[in-house]
Amino acid sequence: MKKVCISGSGLFTPAESVSNDELVLAFNTYVERFNADNAEAIAAGSVTALAPSSTEFIYKASGIKARYTVDKAGVIDPDVMHPQIRPRANDEPSLMVEMGLVAARQALENAGRTAADIDAVLVACSNMQRPYPAMAVELQHFLGAGGYGYDMNVACASAAFGVQAAVDAVNSGSARAALVVSPEICTGHLNFRNRDCHFIFGDAATALLVEPLETATGAHRFEVLGTRMQTQFSNNIRNNFGFLNRSETPHRPWNDVLFAQEGRKVFKEVVPMVSDLLIAHLNALGIEPNSVKRFWLHQANLSMNQLIAKKVLGREPSIEEAPIILDEYANTSSAGSVIAFHKYHQDLRPGDVGVLCAFGAGYSAGSVVLRKL
Ligand code: COA
Repeated sequence: MKKVCISGSGLFTPAESVSNDELVLAFNTYVERFNADNAEAIAAGSVTALAPSSTEFIYKASGIKARYTVDKAGVIDPDVMHPQIRPRANDEPSLMVEMGLVAARQALENAGRTAADIDAVLVACSNMQRPYPAMAVELQHFLGAGGYGYDMNVACASAAFGVQAAVDAVNSGSARAALVVSPEICTGHLNFRNRDCHFIFGDAATALLVEPLETATGAHRFEVLGTRMQTQFSNNIRNNFGFLNRSETPHRPWNDVLFAQEGRKVFKEVVPMVSDLLIAHLNALGIEPNSVKRFWLHQANLSMNQLIAKKVLGREPSIEEAPIILDEYANTSSAGSVIAFHKYHQDLRPGDVGVLCAFGAGYSAGSVVLRKL
């Protein structure tokens, strides 16, 4: 078994950002129009009036201030309220692949590698633009890499599960080096007309390069000390979109094939699942939680991250110990913990231990324990 490291990371951030104020303005305009259009039915009690959203609530409940999106104009237009993207010809790179390529090339560059050095590409994320050919095979093609590629989906925990698959492939010798790419266009599955969740998601893409420790040369290499994954069935985060929607008779309503969650229940159930996983994993590796320099946690909710870190450490975490990017990016699903890693790893010193931890629908959770070389 070879020792394996993460030798480079990459990030693609869309050019356009939507603030809470802009999002709330679009939502509240939609609400005013809906209520005006349905005034009679609302007065008669057959339709329930919609309530407005607020910037204060969004920040207080989630810690989110803004989110990036692949199309701001569509998202903030009260007549549209979703990103609008140009359909592309089959010989053009798909939007997900275009985003993933930027992150992948940056990860290779940071690791001092080229596409010729890798022979496995894993696209690990929550939503694939199409079922096949795999996004990973298309990405491998445009990257000019050999070997193989495949897609995997473990919702928001996908990147951690992808790292485990990449580590297994490299240390068993089935790949020389593997890229884990997580392009997320979360605004595509977000119901911007739902007050409970219209503010939650944003778009981004990340990449991590996994290669044998003995030959890696990147400036910031992290030995993978261990990976531990866990799943436990729950319907509290669910997306019913799928290829059988056409066949379901009668058809589901439009808002039943988008993201939906019971936010309170998710919070209550996922916090203990993830903190127990982290404590058990660190314990199995003989690492005292308080000696961990950094937790790169999934970025869905600020209080949730603070509570998980507090349960693991037995005290309040500092912002350096559990950095936050969700204020700027919102929840970018599988990309979130990797964005935190990408932005906050260069200051760690040789020997410092950090934990990359992703969690989400399934439920699913993954812990990847790393040591700076
Ligand atoms: N603007 C203003 N008020 C709002 C609102 C909005 N956009 N959305 C909901 N509210 C109101 C509710 O109606 C409710 O009012 P009430 O107390 O009068 O009934 C109140 O605010 C609280 O709503 P609730 O949905 O219970 O808020 P919350 O504190 O649980 O926060 C989440 C909502 C979604 C931010 C939070 O539950 C969360 O992040 N959970 C974890 C989700 C998660 O991690 N998911 C992973 C996805 S991958």
